[in-house]
Amino acid sequence: MTGEAQFDTVLVVDFGAQYAQLIARRVREAHVFSEIVPHDMPISEMLARRPAGIILSGGPASVHVAGAPSIDAAVYDTGVPVLGICYGAQLVALQLGGEVARTGKGEYGRTALDVMGPSRLFGDLPTEQDVWMSHFDSIVRAPEGFSVTARTGEVPVAALEDPERAVYAVQFHPEVAHTPRGQEMLKHFLYDVCGCRPAWTMASIIEQSVEAIRAQVGDEQVICGLSGGVDSAVAAALVHKAVGDQLTCVFVDTGLMRAGEAEQVEETFRRQFNVHLVHVKAADRFLEALNDIQDPERKRKIIGETFIRVFEEVATDFQDARFLVQGTLYPDIIESGTKDAAKIKSHHNVGGLPDDMQFDLVEPLRNLFKDEVRAVGEQLGLPEEIVWRQPFPGPGLAVRIVGTVTAERLEVLRAADAIVTEEIKRAGLYRELWQSFAVLPAVYTVGVMGDERTYAYPVVVRAVTSDDAMTADWARLPYEVLERLSSRIINEVPGVNRVAFDITSKPPGTIEWE
Ligand code: XMP
Repeated sequence: MTGEAQFDTVLVVDFGAQYAQLIARRVREAHVFSEIVPHDMPISEMLARRPAGIILSGGPASVHVAGAPSIDAAVYDTGVPVLGICYGAQLVALQLGGEVARTGKGEYGRTALDVMGPSRLFGDLPTEQDVWMSHFDSIVRAPEGFSVTARTGEVPVAALEDPERAVYAVQFHPEVAHTPRGQEMLKHFLYDVCGCRPAWTMASIIEQSVEAIRAQVGDEQVICGLSGGVDSAVAAALVHKAVGDQLTCVFVDTGLMRAGEAEQVEETFRRQFNVHLVHVKAADRFLEALNDIQDPERKRKIIGETFIRVFEEVATDFQDARFLVQGTLYPDIIESGTKDAAKIKSHHNVGGLPDDMQFDLVEPLRNLFKDEVRAVGEQLGLPEEIVWRQPFPGPGLAVRIVGTVTAERLEVLRAADAIVTEEIKRAGLYRELWQSFAVLPAVYTVGVMGDERTYAYPVVVRAVTSDDAMTADWARLPYEVLERLSSRIINEVPGVNRVAFDITSKPPGTIEWE
């Protein structure tokens, strides 16, 4: 699926940090396709993507520091409308002959904006409104040919434009929620300045994706590994819509899944969607391979390898298949130099396959952000339980059981985890938490139940908020929810006599315990 055929494309130039992704998502929320590109991409390459507009994002640097990220100034003479935001605005000013100075009068947070003259960007928005600022340097003089269209109490040049060249710039951040009318400004840029059509809708994404899959696959056979998670489920549903019975889904049940997950896959894909589903029940093999293994990294390795072996065996039945579906998302492939490469744990994507398996890949989600994947899933009729499922590690419950993984300990954890999920859902918190789950540590604690002394497992409840799992904060769950969780787990799960709540953020903790 490319943006070219049916959708106007806006490029968001990334100057570092996380600014570009949010802008790209806002553009798409305005139903215009957006792509993130690195700032050092040659202009000719940008133009080859036939952009209807180019947005220069904010960035962490000062335009004055040595080696500050920049862009070829030829971008302003391409005839493609440009919008500079924050750092991007300062670049516009500097590169076209204006002045950016360290005035000592930076602005942070909510700031009153005073719109001074008519501008396509502001349209008929009120001349006074709040915007979100975060800058240290300030534009003190606009380049020749530019008019200043807004100011603040501290800063004389808060927005500037040269409508002739279609170059616009704003010092504030229109993309953040704290700029209440910011999305309308972006829409003015997209529709009124760039002339974009709001065609990037769920229905048209699905339609184009289906066409692209059909064109790629022809009448060949396709296989898809289902993990129980949202990405592989949406990818499979899209491919099934495109090529129907040419698709076979393989679900390797590792026995390390959450309660009800395997049944849900059966119910949805076999019964509701009528997909040809191979359900491999491999729990015993995984348990055997994990016998007596305590080291977290070894667990991950063993699970990854066992998965591949099982999948290979199944795949011999599908010698004819030429294509393999992968649920790769847009954030996985963004061409930007800002990815943090530090590896703390080896992440096995169970569902990942050996390199020597000869398949061509079908990646129907590679242009989509996670929220778009969910919207597509809903539109395709996948159940809420799958579409809104919280992330789950490939090695499953095995990395939430500290120490050895046994059938008995799995059963304890699965039951406790199901209660956590139920109660978090009942409290209406499930979607706002990044993850919420139970962990089984490798200790026993003393308790008393009735008149009896007990010596049994504690269960740890972990609940975190996060945007991208790179950092996370422990969730401030209401005491009543914690109380229900604790009493239900202790009363309903045999072998558990204590519940603790994990109040560690990431860093220094990780989200999973192993
Ligand atoms: P950590 O524990 O490193 O987890 O803070 C960050 C996010 O990644 C998930 N996770 C995994 N996902 N395979 C996966 O596909 C893995 O081996 C794996 N380990 C952790 C974790 O659930 C969290 O969302």
